[in-house]
Amino acid sequence: MSTKTSRISGFHKLSVPERVDKVMAFAGLEDDGLRAQFLDTGNLPVDLADRLIENAVGTMNIPVGVATNLLIDGKDYLVPMATEESSVVAAVCNAARQCYESGGFTTSMSGTCMIAQVQLVDVPDPAHARLAILERIEDIRSLCDACDPVLVKLGGGFRDLEVRIVDSAHGPMVITHLIVDTRDAMGANAVNTMAEKLASHLEGWAGGRVYLRILSNLADRRLARARCVWKLDAIGGPEVRDGIVRAYEFALMDPYRAATHNKGIMNGVTAVVMATGNDTRAVEAGAHAYAARKGWYSSLSQWEVTAAGDLAGSLEMPMAVGLIGGATKLHPMARASLRVMDIQSAQQLARVIAAVGLAQNFSALKALATEGVQKGHMSLHSQNIALMAGAVGDEISIVARRLVELGTVRIDVAEDTLRALRARED
Ligand code: MEV
Repeated sequence: MSTKTSRISGFHKLSVPERVDKVMAFAGLEDDGLRAQFLDTGNLPVDLADRLIENAVGTMNIPVGVATNLLIDGKDYLVPMATEESSVVAAVCNAARQCYESGGFTTSMSGTCMIAQVQLVDVPDPAHARLAILERIEDIRSLCDACDPVLVKLGGGFRDLEVRIVDSAHGPMVITHLIVDTRDAMGANAVNTMAEKLASHLEGWAGGRVYLRILSNLADRRLARARCVWKLDAIGGPEVRDGIVRAYEFALMDPYRAATHNKGIMNGVTAVVMATGNDTRAVEAGAHAYAARKGWYSSLSQWEVTAAGDLAGSLEMPMAVGLIGGATKLHPMARASLRVMDIQSAQQLARVIAAVGLAQNFSALKALATEGVQKGHMSLHSQNIALMAGAVGDEISIVARRLVELGTVRIDVAEDTLRALRARED
């Protein structure tokens, strides 16, 4: 039987410092500087942190690096990326450098529409009901648009209607899709409100009972696209090119490899989504659902050889990001990131992110198809290990270099190296 209880009534009503005290007392933690660590919220003011989520006790700072060399649709970008993983930013810089002279990335977007789903169950005549709903498209348009006059004024609003019949263990369900142009908003709030508003009307028109009313993260009406040609001489010749194409063919056919291949793409995508305060989970869910749209999980990107023998890469994936609402509008770093990139629309941001995803994928595949990822990764990783071993100042790079020379990037070796270094200096 536990002697301490996690049942803390009114925890949410406490101030952030009061919550920290409660948490430390619960965990039996000494205040050896820990309290100050919790309360150092960096560039996110503590009041804002407390407003963004519930029961806030601190923040988690992640480094923001800037990817250089990015030429996207003829414009030069410096792209902020928030990531804890070494090599991720460097990978984008390297990929972008190798295609800068040949014109960089070309991007586009399929639209800015989100889908909200309304689930109707126990409909006696689903085929009949489907048509009855489709006939109401103009009523549905009015009801949806009335939910968000500001969005309509900005050129967005209800665009289209789809009704699908989906089988379930309890019989067919009638699933209505509201297709809504959410412009510069990610759109979750807008479409969820519309779906909720429509629920009782759908029951009236179609019979049955409404259960879920929620957006779909498979945002396939909001596909961001990026393509790029890497010249053969810029990437190191036909062997590198063919290695990348072979790596792609592996990911195309094998879900075990595709998961890792797409994880590499998401290393870039998520870092920019995070740096701009957007919803990383929404973009990730959309990416992986889209990657499985053919019925098996596969590569999000494509790699081919052009007629001239160069390497062509392309990426198309859902990209539900926005500029207004939530952390994007409120987090000072998110705002700073958008300003660095001079982002004027959600579409522009989504396109930049797609280019970063493709660049990331290029570098990962190139490394994998040639020397492997560990060599580059380990030289960066070795610095983290040196830090973990207690190295400070100049010691960090000396220890890190030694670890790489030894070919053993391990904490015990770093500690031994640091001890020997300090003994020499005494
Ligand atoms: C590591 O974070 C990402 C890679 O595994 C991606 C890939 O294998 O394509 C290197």
